[in-house]
Amino acid sequence: MLNIAVLVSGGGTNLQAIIDAIENGTVTNTRISMVYSNNRNAFALERAKKHGIKTEVLVPKEFENRDAFNEAFYELLIKENPDLIVLAGCLVVIPEKIVKAFKGRIINIHPSLIPSFCGTGFYGLKVHEEALKRGVRVSGATVHFVDEGTDTGPIIFQKAVYIRPDDTAKTLQQRIMEQAEWKILPKAIDLIANGKISIKDNIVEIEDYDPEF
Ligand code: GRF
Repeated sequence: MLNIAVLVSGGGTNLQAIIDAIENGTVTNTRISMVYSNNRNAFALERAKKHGIKTEVLVPKEFENRDAFNEAFYELLIKENPDLIVLAGCLVVIPEKIVKAFKGRIINIHPSLIPSFCGTGFYGLKVHEEALKRGVRVSGATVHFVDEGTDTGPIIFQKAVYIRPDDTAKTLQQRIMEQAEWKILPKAIDLIANGKISIKDNIVEIEDYDPEF
């Protein structure tokens, strides 16, 4: 059984997609042991509670300084010791100490086709605004392992979404969530839970890979 900790900041629709996939059996061998939020008002926390999942909140600005927060954050995760940490719309930059301690055991969902529209500053609606500004015809989402960089870790899955002429950043964000994020994030967790994913020379290998799933 893969014990996962899901880290969130906002609405938690990706968390909901994981919960639903576990409940309907699309994701197997997996249990959410904890949901962490940096924001006390995140609706994601309500979603977790509704399903009887333990929640933890540590708010960076309630600590004396960033180092004190980082240390508490590290201690929380070490104590919990999940098999996998899932960043599902988590806006906290994960401290290097945590990335090192959980090497190869942290995944993130990003709402673009990496390496486009990613890296520092590319989060939330900004990603979609920049994609529309550039006039790309296709965007999408990427689920990847987390390394020391920002959005630079090995890619697990990507799913493309076509841009429509009347798209706004908001409509594009919503369609990318529905058509890409809510599918590839649970899928990645299921494959990890069932031992189908490995990393070789920084490239992800997937057993029985089906590009069209
Ligand atoms: C998603 O677009 C995700 O890719 C991004 O933040 C958003 C989170 O949405 N990192 P939600 O909290 O899962 O609804």
